[in-house]
Amino acid sequence: MCGILGCAGVDDAASILYEGLERLEYRGYDSAGLAVANGNTLALERVAGRVHQLNIRSLPPATYGIAHTRWATHGPPTKANAHPHQPCDASVAIAHNGIIENHAELRNALETSGHTFTSDTDTEVVAHLLEDTYDGDIVASLDTVKEQLEGTYALLAIHAEEPGVVAATRYRSPLVLGLAEQGNFVASDVVAFRAYTDQVIFLEDGDVARVTRDSYDVTPATPRTIEPQRVDWKLEEATKAGFPHFMLKEIHEQPRSIEEALVGRTNLGTFDIESNDLTLPDLACFDDAVFIACGSSYNAALAASRLFQTHANIATRVELASEYEPLEATAERTLVIAVTQSGETADTLDALRKAQNSGATTLSVTNVVGSTATRQADAWVPIRAGPEISVAATKSFTGQLNVLHLLALHLGHLRRGSSQPKIHEEMEALRHVPTLLRSLLDDTTHLDQIGRWLADHERCFVLGKGQGHAVALESALKIKEISYIHAEGLAAGELKHGPLALIEDGTPVLALAPGGTLMDSMRSSMEEVAARGAHVIALTDTREAFQDSGFETVHAPGEEPSTFPYTATVMGQVIAYYAAIERGTNVDKPRNLAKSVTVE
Ligand code: AGP
Repeated sequence: MCGILGCAGVDDAASILYEGLERLEYRGYDSAGLAVANGNTLALERVAGRVHQLNIRSLPPATYGIAHTRWATHGPPTKANAHPHQPCDASVAIAHNGIIENHAELRNALETSGHTFTSDTDTEVVAHLLEDTYDGDIVASLDTVKEQLEGTYALLAIHAEEPGVVAATRYRSPLVLGLAEQGNFVASDVVAFRAYTDQVIFLEDGDVARVTRDSYDVTPATPRTIEPQRVDWKLEEATKAGFPHFMLKEIHEQPRSIEEALVGRTNLGTFDIESNDLTLPDLACFDDAVFIACGSSYNAALAASRLFQTHANIATRVELASEYEPLEATAERTLVIAVTQSGETADTLDALRKAQNSGATTLSVTNVVGSTATRQADAWVPIRAGPEISVAATKSFTGQLNVLHLLALHLGHLRRGSSQPKIHEEMEALRHVPTLLRSLLDDTTHLDQIGRWLADHERCFVLGKGQGHAVALESALKIKEISYIHAEGLAAGELKHGPLALIEDGTPVLALAPGGTLMDSMRSSMEEVAARGAHVIALTDTREAFQDSGFETVHAPGEEPSTFPYTATVMGQVIAYYAAIERGTNVDKPRNLAKSVTVE
């Protein structure tokens, strides 16, 4: 997810673009750049770093331009990969948010026809296509070029021969016009220009817009009345897009972040393994896989490991990175998968080095393109969750689980693991997860109440079975790390082997009890603790399961066993969030913790 911004007719384009980028930085911050007019040429300033590292004093006075703050999806965060991008003749500058899925074939064709590329990004193909199609009208040229693009995009373009014009178009990435006295704007998010206007026009997929100092012209993809509307929130609420905390915003971003993760990956056989020499079929040759991770990423790996066994017949082991020791004897035939949101966790990187030194093939699954984990492993896969600011992992957890789920299905397809119908059925269920999460997040009142009730307790248990065990560990970790309640995640079957001694009158127990084969054994565990006075809350996806049980019950949407780990995870996140709110802790920056633990 990136932030893009264009302005036309303003007095000091470089300063206004810089200020707007700072407000968009929550959308991505691994590199940044801007382009402004300089007579009949374009002047660029780009940096492999944060917005504040841009030296805008190097730019000439200008009244229009475009800008970008990047969350890398293709190509590491270097200056050459920072947007805006230009074609060979530097006549155009382009900024992009999204993923051009067919960038490789477009790039091949452009290089064959003589274009020289200067970056590793998917975006640069658009700059060269605009150069080829330009015939005096940058908006018409963008309208033509967009027809060749597959994937998702919000695109802004300016041309040196058209002073004052910003061209814009979008498909499945947001773009909104801002109409102000000082000039007109177009951006990923209103926050970029909210300081100047509350009059906006939200573009829709396929729309093409021409923005100038005194006018805007939107060519709608489908006929509709185009007229400004007023936004009613104040700027200060906007950095969190209106949410009180980044964590709640990121919880609510999960339908979107999972949609992003699914783009281009749900047709069996197409899965983007980023590597110089390893392909998906290469990964399908391994009969053994070892996951190495920490914290939430360990829990995601534990949940996913079962899917590798079930669908791909790959024997899996999940190791805490800090405890990992490679098995030299089997290293040659082992795929070691490092799961790490930040891609910089010292324990995980250390384990990755041990795996490589032992001769194992390594794959990283991470949220940060260009992170050490992507450079150190033999191959890597981005989860595309966008920047996760809150220390507590939320969308990165479901993103990791989702990407590993997809990978298990693709490997199963190649290894003839699960039956093809089963794999297709499960892929269809994954496509449905964003809708289920949207429905769940539409009304979290009951989960809010449970969280605030839990806040009065010093300890609690979260029970699960199968993948639910991993989700129980993750929910307990969320509760622990942001509300400071001593929550323990447990495999339900383990209760009677000791932990049951801790159950007493009123002990809170959250039970992840999906319908299907796990229901009976989960119900037995719930009865066990209830008989000893526990206050049991059932989180389930079946309507009738606990009607006569006396258990407080929260229903998640969806009936597919494969979607419950996602809905159960989000229920646990919301409960943890409201427990923390009730306790008044620092939700986004809990005590003693850091977003990326780069020390051992
Ligand atoms: C989870 O909410 C925590 N932020 C923490 O456990 C985290 O998952 C762990 O430190 C691993 O981080 P990584 O995914 O960046 O490697």
